[in-house]
Amino acid sequence: TGYNIAVVGATGAVGTRIIKMLEETSLPIASIKLLASQRSVGKTLEYNGQKLKVQEALPSSFEGVDLAFFSAGGSVSKKLAPEAIRRGAVVVDNTSAFRMDPSVPLVVPEVNEQALYKHQGLVANPNCSTIQMVVALEPLRKEFGLKKVIVTTMQAVSGAGNRAIKELYSETKAVLNQQEYKPEILPVTNAPEHYQIAFNPLAQIDVFEDGGYTHEEWKMIHETKKIMENEQIQVTATCVRVPVPISHSESVWFELEKSGATVAKLQQILQNAPGVILRDDPVHQVFPQALEATGQKETYVGRIRADGEQQNAFHLYCVADNLLKGAAWNSVQIAESLDKLGLLCVPNR
Ligand code: A2P
Repeated sequence: TGYNIAVVGATGAVGTRIIKMLEETSLPIASIKLLASQRSVGKTLEYNGQKLKVQEALPSSFEGVDLAFFSAGGSVSKKLAPEAIRRGAVVVDNTSAFRMDPSVPLVVPEVNEQALYKHQGLVANPNCSTIQMVVALEPLRKEFGLKKVIVTTMQAVSGAGNRAIKELYSETKAVLNQQEYKPEILPVTNAPEHYQIAFNPLAQIDVFEDGGYTHEEWKMIHETKKIMENEQIQVTATCVRVPVPISHSESVWFELEKSGATVAKLQQILQNAPGVILRDDPVHQVFPQALEATGQKETYVGRIRADGEQQNAFHLYCVADNLLKGAAWNSVQIAESLDKLGLLCVPNR
């Protein structure tokens, strides 16, 4: 006995990690179905040493499925998530398709697990950059309140999928060998212009929207308020793609509502916070690094400093594996929470 699970986008950067997280989960699993596009039919992927065939994702794929993880892009989620729910599956969606829908819980279990009680068959996994930031800030918010956040991200290329990782490697090699290389993926797959990411950070993630902000920056702003259930928190973001394969790094400036916080107190809170590993020891040259966070489920936090000029304001630096805590692990963790709370079923069906 256990859940019948489907992974949509199983061949992708996130999908393959979801399979790995399902190998490590405490969730009872009866079966796993791997779904992707028609292009992947015939491919096999391993789950717990078993070779499983990849199948084409179709509405009928969800017959008998209890739990479906979606990570194949927003358009696939929009089309197939309702089909999965209609057939009785609870969907954990990793795309931005439903995140800001008021009827859809947007969940980071360390922060707002209780929001799961409102689900109507679908739970959204937040944007990778938002997740690690709220994991670091929520314990501080609980104690001191949060007034304002200014974040600058340094995001890994894997956030744009497997093809973007390949582009970083091939392009880096080409540049080192003084060969021509034509970028085709970054910064945004379908944008008219593509730019070199090798040795060249790009201050564009996703498309440009209102006010000169990118969609990624708006996601961080809106999702943070929704997850923390507080529209009053002032959030602004600059999102930058950097030539790193995996793990996002973020420089976060924040202003607390209450006074009385000290660096030592904030360090102590984060030392004991769920999902956080504190790496903050400048004397011994200890601070979070992408290489250390990659492959781990936790958010690494360090460089905690007081703003020298402004009261109740501080800096921190956080790093997490964007494919794990930013995506696959947070999704599987949501499913574990749903199971624990007895919510792994579609209400009123
Ligand atoms: P496929 O490998 O068959 O193209 P990434 O984020 O690494 O680019 O991965 C995207 C994932 O989404 C892949 O597993 C990809 O499958 C899947 N995918 C893309 N388009 C579709 C589609 N139309 N239907 C189902 N899965 C899709």
